[in-house]
Amino acid sequence: MSNENSRISSALFGELPDGQKITRYTLENKSGASVEILDLGGIIVSLNVPDRDGKLNDIVLGLDDPAQYLNESPYFGAIVGRYANRIAKGKFSLEGTDYSLAVNNGPNALHGGLVGFDKKIWNVEPFEGADHAGLSLTMVSEDGEEGYPGTLKVNVSYKLDDDNNLTINYKASTDKTTVINLSQHTYFNLNGHNSGNILDHEVFLNAASFTPVDENLIPTGEIVAVENTPMDFRQAKTIGRDIGVENEQLDVGGGYDHNWVLDRQDMENMELAATVYEPTSGRFMEIMTDQPAIQFYTGNFLDGTVSGKAGYNYQYRGGLCLETQHFPDSPNQVNFPSTVLKAGEEYNTTTIFNFSVK
Ligand code: BGC
Repeated sequence: MSNENSRISSALFGELPDGQKITRYTLENKSGASVEILDLGGIIVSLNVPDRDGKLNDIVLGLDDPAQYLNESPYFGAIVGRYANRIAKGKFSLEGTDYSLAVNNGPNALHGGLVGFDKKIWNVEPFEGADHAGLSLTMVSEDGEEGYPGTLKVNVSYKLDDDNNLTINYKASTDKTTVINLSQHTYFNLNGHNSGNILDHEVFLNAASFTPVDENLIPTGEIVAVENTPMDFRQAKTIGRDIGVENEQLDVGGGYDHNWVLDRQDMENMELAATVYEPTSGRFMEIMTDQPAIQFYTGNFLDGTVSGKAGYNYQYRGGLCLETQHFPDSPNQVNFPSTVLKAGEEYNTTTIFNFSVK
């Protein structure tokens, strides 16, 4: 499938224990930046972007063996769904019917269940244009899969352009009323995936409030101002600055692991949600989205036990996730923006990650 002028190539990534072959697709732009994506889970396995000296480095955490993505991955690089984040006790009701999901995270359902979208093998169609290369990934999630109602047809596309924008578009439709919340679970370390923790990264979140959680990381339902709390990232600050301060929410999260409510001008257009700057490399990441919220997770559950790419063990807080999304547990929280998708409607949302240097 690759020819000399193509921005896209593909290769065998490996085999699953049952013999299924997993393909890795590489998208490259004219400056040499590249992203590698699997048909398994739509997983971003590597992302090489320049530092301030033009040196490319892989800035996302990942694994070398596809079987690890099924067994021991904390959702490295994956598309998460049908419902990214937690649903309390794996239960909700919709139009008078009660639904029960597999519980896979303490008492809760997390990131779509036992076999979420991160563990599915997607159909992949490459596409390219004068200034970009992309992949269109499709998959059908059957009615009742993981307990969710409705046959869901999903199409996620990734596009890498010559301005170092990685654009992700999520589309879905259903034949029965359901709930949906799709996101992307890449762990970033802008100094390189194998370069220690992310505490020196400077983060800005365009959010004046967040949704506090209980001891099971389920939102209490309140929307609370970040002002005068460690959750305030309206002025960029290092992650390490306040992560250790005495604070009930940091205690329950084991660090930052919360949903920030984005300050939006309107609910449709793309707006700046977050930025991350890493001072050693000079790399700067901007995240634009049309979504109402973002989960900021500082890798608090990483503990050095997973053997990552090239044998590097990812340490405590070795990567950070910024997952654009709807609020966690929305199906059970009437005051949160709705995540209901009805037959005949189209779910269509976009997030852009831009990479530059300062
Ligand atoms: C959640 C964390 C969870 C992680 C799984 C994040 O989206 O916020 O609580 O541990 O996903 O790797």
